[in-house]
Amino acid sequence: MNFELTEEHKMIREAARDFAKSELLPGVIERDENQTFPSDQINKLAELGFLGMMVDPKYGGAGMDTISYVLAMEEISKVDASCSVIMSVNNSLVCWGIETFGTEEQKKKYLIPLAKGEIIGAFCLSEPEAGSDATSQKTTAIDKGDYYELNGTKNWITNGNTASVYLVIAQTDISKGHKGINAFIVERDMEGFVVGPKENKLGIRGSDTHSIMFSDVKVPKENRIGDDGFGFTFAMKTLSGGRIGIASQALGIASGAYELSLQYAQERKAFGKEIINHQAISFKLADMITEIDAARLLCLKSAWLKDNKHNYDRAGAMAKVFASEVAMKTTIEAVQIHGGYGFVKEYHVERLMRDAKITQIYEGTSEIQRIVISRSILK
Ligand code: CAA
Repeated sequence: MNFELTEEHKMIREAARDFAKSELLPGVIERDENQTFPSDQINKLAELGFLGMMVDPKYGGAGMDTISYVLAMEEISKVDASCSVIMSVNNSLVCWGIETFGTEEQKKKYLIPLAKGEIIGAFCLSEPEAGSDATSQKTTAIDKGDYYELNGTKNWITNGNTASVYLVIAQTDISKGHKGINAFIVERDMEGFVVGPKENKLGIRGSDTHSIMFSDVKVPKENRIGDDGFGFTFAMKTLSGGRIGIASQALGIASGAYELSLQYAQERKAFGKEIINHQAISFKLADMITEIDAARLLCLKSAWLKDNKHNYDRAGAMAKVFASEVAMKTTIEAVQIHGGYGFVKEYHVERLMRDAKITQIYEGTSEIQRIVISRSILK
């Protein structure tokens, strides 16, 4: 067993770290405050190849592995988790879903611009009454011969107003339950496609989250992904990989909060010495780094399993549930270490604490991850 990263992996991590420091850190507080989408930063991420990291270069991607993706996600998320969720949805849900299950025509038409970052994508599964219970889709896609007629509402869609291409999960035949669900590639400018109001969120405020409404949208037959009835399996398989991305985001939020806390604890003096020399603080830092290391190992293991074509459903769920809980705990402690300064925006840790919460909710709550893990044990 070898825990050493390759030279290429180290270079990718350095590139992501430099980018986060030089391009994301300036303005991150204001973007959070004003809910500003990081358009310029996303364009620059595209130039680095970070919007289609794992896509085959013949489809416009960077041809990197999942380990590289985890490393980049951690570095970007240390500084700007709004940026990293945009990156994660585009990479692991939209690009991966089309590259793995799409037709050659779908790849040429949609994957190439998505992987190059010329456009970005969104993944539409959640509904007002179908978040965790993903089989209860109310959005319908009725077969009309040459096309499907799409009607319904999707909620909490990341990249909701900035995407050009949306992967939409909908019920085609209710009598077949989850085997009557399909996945479609829907273009934003199709007639009857409406973007709802922007959500005013606790965290990841720079990313744009909207509801999306479909009213008699005509989706051409050739935009269905996979065979008839493949949509639920498509969503589950895609989310399995997505969970590695969100686990890495949580890892980055935690390690960003740890690094800020370490620096602060070495500078801030109380009772005649730097606070890191008080055991009350050094023990907190010891717990943080131990748990962050464990979360990182779970993220890298799930990425390794994926890269080596092993099943990673359980490993991805384990990484996500653990890393997101570490992110929440670490960021709360980071605010505590910073004391009053932790409660104001310019010290960054209060934002990281707010951003951490969503990692326990999206792409399957912590409870859903435990369902996935416990079912894999029973199997
Ligand atoms: N791969 C392939 N097939 C899978 C699978 C997987 N990982 N997981 C389940 N399936 C299959 C099952 O084998 C089963 O098929 P059969 O009946 O043929 O055996 C079928 O799917 C139904 O599975 P279950 O009976 O297990 O379904 P369930 O209703 O009990 O739900 C669940 C399972 C794991 C709870 C699932 O509903 C789930 O993951 N829910 C959470 C959804 C989620 O993550 N939502 C997040 C929204 S996306 C998002 O947040 C993106 C963003 O913008 C950031």
